[in-house]
Amino acid sequence: MKGIVLAGGYGSRLHPITLAVSKQLLPVNDKPLIYYPLSALMLADVRDILIIALPGDIPQLQRLLGDGSQLGISLTYAEQPVPNGLAQAFITGADHIGDDSVALVLGDNIFHGNGFYDLLAEHTRNVDGCVLFGYPVNDPERYGVGEVDESGRLVSLAEKPEKPRSNLAITGLYLYDNDVVEIARRIRPSARGELEITDVNQVYLEAGRAKLVTFGRGFAWLDAGTPQSLLQAGQYVQTLEDRQGVRIACLEEVALRMGFIDADACHRLGAKLSRSGYGEYVMAVAGEMGA
Ligand code: DAU
Repeated sequence: MKGIVLAGGYGSRLHPITLAVSKQLLPVNDKPLIYYPLSALMLADVRDILIIALPGDIPQLQRLLGDGSQLGISLTYAEQPVPNGLAQAFITGADHIGDDSVALVLGDNIFHGNGFYDLLAEHTRNVDGCVLFGYPVNDPERYGVGEVDESGRLVSLAEKPEKPRSNLAITGLYLYDNDVVEIARRIRPSARGELEITDVNQVYLEAGRAKLVTFGRGFAWLDAGTPQSLLQAGQYVQTLEDRQGVRIACLEEVALRMGFIDADACHRLGAKLSRSGYGEYVMAVAGEMGA
């Protein structure tokens, strides 16, 4: 399975903060926002990942993450000159996807909770159709919304409906079989001029090939697209990290635990950051694992 992090967009709800810096590079407590969605793909055992971003943001993202080899993964970059919609990711990323399945994650989405790894392992295996992840929210009208019947089967989808038919938001993590490239090429821009991911998902739904997996209570799904949600995400991460002494979305740790790098390599990565608490943590984790 290939991976795509969609990290474009103007971040206009965060202006003026994002006038000069990509939203995905803003801090969420102790690390840049993009670490969170990237770690989700790594936890799904996806190692070949394309990062799509505005042309001006790519050099900084490369400075931060490089080609991924230090983490035992491959990172490549593609430009999305204008944010013409989430579904454009599959057209821009068509060569990267090749004849594989693909996991797409939005660059401002944070997933955290017990059992996430197992859930990903279960659903990334042999994707047939698409797998969407639902999360109950108070304000579904801000999101794509999924409606399920009594048996939990997905029966309708709507993008930011005025009158949502349920409180289940469709989160920014999507798994697709290879048909997604052709489907994305066939859909037309919506009234707001974007290639909507909900229209892609609708094609799968109508073909009876869309599955909705709902994150349970106790799971955290956060987006960080507004000053409030960015701050709340940082507070959430800080509370858990300070309390438990673990770090969420520490890429070096994820790479180590997934077996992408060994403890010595992990320790070397931590040593480069040793003047920060983050670097100390990476070295300590590497030490516990034998470095
Ligand atoms: O966060 C989940 C929601 O994401 C879903 O529930 C919605 O169905 C989906 O449409 C999307 O809604 P948003 O209104 O949050 O999408 P937004 O335009 O804010 O874009 C989400 C992220 O993707 C953001 O970090 C910017 C980036 N982006 C967006 C577009 C439209 C791109 O990189 N390129 C784009 O063309």
